[in-house]
Amino acid sequence: KRVMCVVGARPNFMKIAPLMRRLGASVSLEPYLVHTGQHYDAAMKAAFFEQLHIPEPDQDLGVGSGTHAAQTAEIMRRFEPVLEAQAPDAVLVVGDVNSTIACALVAAKKGVPVVHVEAGLRSFDRSMPEEINRVLTDQLSELLFTTERLALENLEREGIDPARVHFVGNVMIDTLLHNRRRAPSVAAVLAAADIADPPGERFGVITLHRPSNVDDPMTLERLVDALAELSAELPLLFPLHPRTAARLEANGLRKRAAAACTLLPPLDYLHMLGLLQSATMVLTDSGGIQEETTALGVPCLTLRANTERPITVSEGTNTMVGADRARILAAARNILSDGGKAGRIPELWDGRAAERIVAVLEDWLAPV
Ligand code: UD1
Repeated sequence: KRVMCVVGARPNFMKIAPLMRRLGASVSLEPYLVHTGQHYDAAMKAAFFEQLHIPEPDQDLGVGSGTHAAQTAEIMRRFEPVLEAQAPDAVLVVGDVNSTIACALVAAKKGVPVVHVEAGLRSFDRSMPEEINRVLTDQLSELLFTTERLALENLEREGIDPARVHFVGNVMIDTLLHNRRRAPSVAAVLAAADIADPPGERFGVITLHRPSNVDDPMTLERLVDALAELSAELPLLFPLHPRTAARLEANGLRKRAAAACTLLPPLDYLHMLGLLQSATMVLTDSGGIQEETTALGVPCLTLRANTERPITVSEGTNTMVGADRARILAAARNILSDGGKAGRIPELWDGRAAERIVAVLEDWLAPV
């Protein structure tokens, strides 16, 4: 039986890697990989495929960037003939990016069962494009795999039959545990980026790319000012997402950011992991990094008003601080003085999620 797997954007790549490996090893299932081309820069795509040993996609739809409507529509338009030609037994999508909803919608209307990995996460904030993608993808899915128990409640509230939902753990953490020992040292990461003087023992890592933080000039400026103030107490490393680099430039904030932080290009998976696992703290608006810091036991401050990953707060090392300067600084100083929340590893974040998912898929698609 053929499972068509879809990836599009950076956070999809680390989720698909363990699934492709497990599907490749299955006797009854065969993977077919489609990359939509939503992310296409070498630093945003190729580096991840190489490092994580993801096979080259069987199809690259090459859609590129655009408005949400244009990008989603273009993915749908280009995905449909591939789906028709290959006639897979299921389409597997991961996460919550535009590629996820676009391909799920095409498959569901063609009557091809959709499988959603990382289902049921809810921020309850519809101003986030990902929240819309999550709700709709779950509605379209026949089989839903969750990373934390609360996700089932969210799905049941939306009328989804719990019999279709499987709590299996977190494929992103499969990749983290699998690759942890391969990550380079901090000095090696900085040397590779041509940075002469690495920070000492203590440093912070910053990532920002959410439209709600970087597209509004006032918010972006407030965040840069908070970073400038924190940098007096802790050296900061800031790998820049292309969207963030463009917004800093457009608003004349790049110099101020560069004075406060060591700015880096977007990092590949292992280089990023090298920084994360040695960091004193991480300040981020990413979804995946909230989970990765929880799995690594590294304190995380999330620069957002809400999270769709509440387990990283209730059990993990994550604290929500929004985009408010005073809250960010107070929380960061707490970590500097007492090391921050200890946290524990969430249930089933044990490196075996992909194994569980493929076992369920084998039973479902090719029962013996
Ligand atoms: C997308 C996801 C987001 C995810 C993020 C991770 C959606 C709705 N959003 O946001 O959930 O957290 O990826 O990175 O799917 N660009 C490049 N090179 C690339 C890709 C993008 O320069 O390879 C630039 C383009 O100017 C583009 C902008 O980044 O317009 C935004 O890219 P896009 O894919 O629309 O959304 P992200 O902000 O990356």
